[in-house]
Amino acid sequence: MENLVICGGRRLSGEIDIQGAKNSALPILAATVLIKGESVIHNCPDLSDIDAAIKILRHLGCKVKKEKNTLTVDSREISCYNIPDALMREMRSSIVFLGSVLGRTGMAVMSSPGGCDIGLRPIDLHLSSLRTLGVRVEECHGTLICKREKQLAGGVVSLSFPSVGATENIMLACALSRGRTVILNAAREPEIKDLADFLNSCGCNVEIGSHGTVVISGVKELHGCEHSVIPDRIASLTFMSAVASSGGDVTLNKTDSSSFMSVIPIFEQMGCEIANRSNRLRIRMNKRPKSVMDIRTMPYPGFPTDAQAPVTAALSVAQGTSVLVENIFENRFKHIPELQRMGARIKIEGKVAIIDGTDRLYGARVFSPDLRGGAALVVAGLCAQGETVVEQICHIDRGYECIEKSFSQLGADIKRIIV
Ligand code: EPZ
Repeated sequence: MENLVICGGRRLSGEIDIQGAKNSALPILAATVLIKGESVIHNCPDLSDIDAAIKILRHLGCKVKKEKNTLTVDSREISCYNIPDALMREMRSSIVFLGSVLGRTGMAVMSSPGGCDIGLRPIDLHLSSLRTLGVRVEECHGTLICKREKQLAGGVVSLSFPSVGATENIMLACALSRGRTVILNAAREPEIKDLADFLNSCGCNVEIGSHGTVVISGVKELHGCEHSVIPDRIASLTFMSAVASSGGDVTLNKTDSSSFMSVIPIFEQMGCEIANRSNRLRIRMNKRPKSVMDIRTMPYPGFPTDAQAPVTAALSVAQGTSVLVENIFENRFKHIPELQRMGARIKIEGKVAIIDGTDRLYGARVFSPDLRGGAALVVAGLCAQGETVVEQICHIDRGYECIEKSFSQLGADIKRIIV
């Protein structure tokens, strides 16, 4: 098992490159199953979730070569349509393979992904949408059996909630189809557009309309392509949260601030000075952050739920009281009891966190409850007085490429130790 040991209190300075987006790379890797050819995916983050996706691709019959951040996937031969439970359980978001396996083979058998650290994570919107499009879906003792009698003929699907995963699964299930599929109230996250760009580079015809409409005009076959994954907006916001609370002067390279424009004003309200130019963002902070009254997580382009935990950690040392409402997931405050162990004064009332900023956090031994909660504890440890030990960092490694290396590069005293 590995822990992170952080000696807090240092200002951060210097430059780091932002990794490719985990939540874009995963659906794009799933999309390679649709392709009778070879694809090269650049800027793929080196994460345990990516390794889990590679295992699934190889199980399905794909040949995958990984050279650090470039993956080459040869999916000419797909030899099966089932994903075993062990592989499904390694990564909950494996459900995104449902659409591409079904689209390529006509069948898909996999276990229903369980709930996870942050909530129940139902997939009713995925399944009801596929049924609307003519897919036969059976759920039997936790196993999903999906079958299409013939090539899907397209149709109209209206999502009651702009689910990212459901939007992706519909896009993947309909890319190889005989008709035109319209998704109404689709997710509008940048990762959806990146998936559409990948599919279009492979010969598909996906249009991202305005106001959350996605139109997929299916094709008979898709060919390989070369694609570079967009920058990870949540990793960017995580590093920005650390500067906001620890202070410093940091430049994020290879980022894309247009993908998190709605969040920049929050950091400016905290007192950060931000200058962004195309793929570089410079953030400076020379004083204690100020509180922010009203943050509500929303579907894109609103405040992203994945940034909630790191920003909560930064606001824990703000001057004044901040109020944050988590509207997307029902159990996404598990980092708060750990922050309280470090001296944070936060009250939870249902989906509302009331953060009464304190002038100092203190190092403690804390447990990473989930991916973004773990990142929040790193942010807190960096600004805390004394030593913080973060345990269960396997959660963090799912979504951040060697987080201790990035922060060490910015002058932090943070080490990974094997226990
Ligand atoms: C994606 O999860 C991301 N994961 C999440 O990032 C992110 O938090 C989330 O989108 C929202 O932006 C990946 O892309 C791999 P949803 P997903 O379907 O697709 C409800 C991280 O930390 N819902 O948009 O699972 C659901 O319960 C992860 O990187 C249904 O009710 O998110 C939730 O309340 C965490 N029925 C809300 O919608 C469904 O069928 C948002 O879920 C599907 C979803």
